[in-house]
Amino acid sequence: MQVKTPEQSKTVLTDMVLPGETNPLNNLFGGELLARMDRAASIAARRHSRRITVTASVNHVAFTKAVPLGSVVTVEAKVSRAFKTSMEVFIDVWIEDRESGEKTKANEAIYTFVAVDDIGHPVAVPQIKPETTLEKERFDAALRRKQLSLLLAGKIKPSDASELKALFK
Ligand SMILES: CC(C)(COP(=O)(O)OP(=O)(O)OC[C@H]1O[C@@H](n2cnc3c(N)ncnc32)[C@H](O)[C@@H]1OP(=O)(O)O)[C@@H](O)C(=O)NCCC(=O)NCCS
Repeated sequence: MQVKTPEQSKTVLTDMVLPGETNPLNNLFGGELLARMDRAASIAARRHSRRITVTASVNHVAFTKAVPLGSVVTVEAKVSRAFKTSMEVFIDVWIEDRESGEKTKANEAIYTFVAVDDIGHPVAVPQIKPETTLEKERFDAALRRKQLSLLLAGKIKPSDASELKALFK
């Protein structure tokens, strides 16, 4: 089985916030950011699997900081863990100060993608070997998040969520 690193899937999308993409407070509309994150994450999942990939779930989104009109926004996505046919993708969103160029973390999200064949059937993906400390932390917690997502979707029973149960022991 082929093994790849998170870095090999890294996808960076940089764009501006334009009028028409904002809410009445002139900050980036949440749905617009979700779409940008979905696009970057989908490319990261495709780079990892070299397959067609579909969004299976959005596991977590934190809109921590508003993104004002005119901001330069960088969306960075990397596969954090691969399972059999699914991949967890971690997305970090940064905004850039106009004068200093300094980047501030604005949001983050975690999406799950599934690699599929031409008729939409799930297919196996390469495994992943995390390298940095952050990649290792994200890798280690990913099984717990997968079980939580499957539990919330009604796809597994609480008794099957072994990693989640271990948290409460
Ligand atoms: C995602 C999809 C391919 C899964 O198909 P399925 O028949 O449920 O297939 P499986 O049960 O074999 O699941 C496939 C993988 O997805 C994972 N998965 C399915 N639902 C999940 C969820 N809610 N959260 C996390 N993982 C999930 C399974 O655990 C499995 O992972 P693994 O093989 O790595 O262990 C199917 O539901 C689909 O095509 N959905 C529509 C996708 C789409 O159109 N997205 C865009 C939305 S507009």
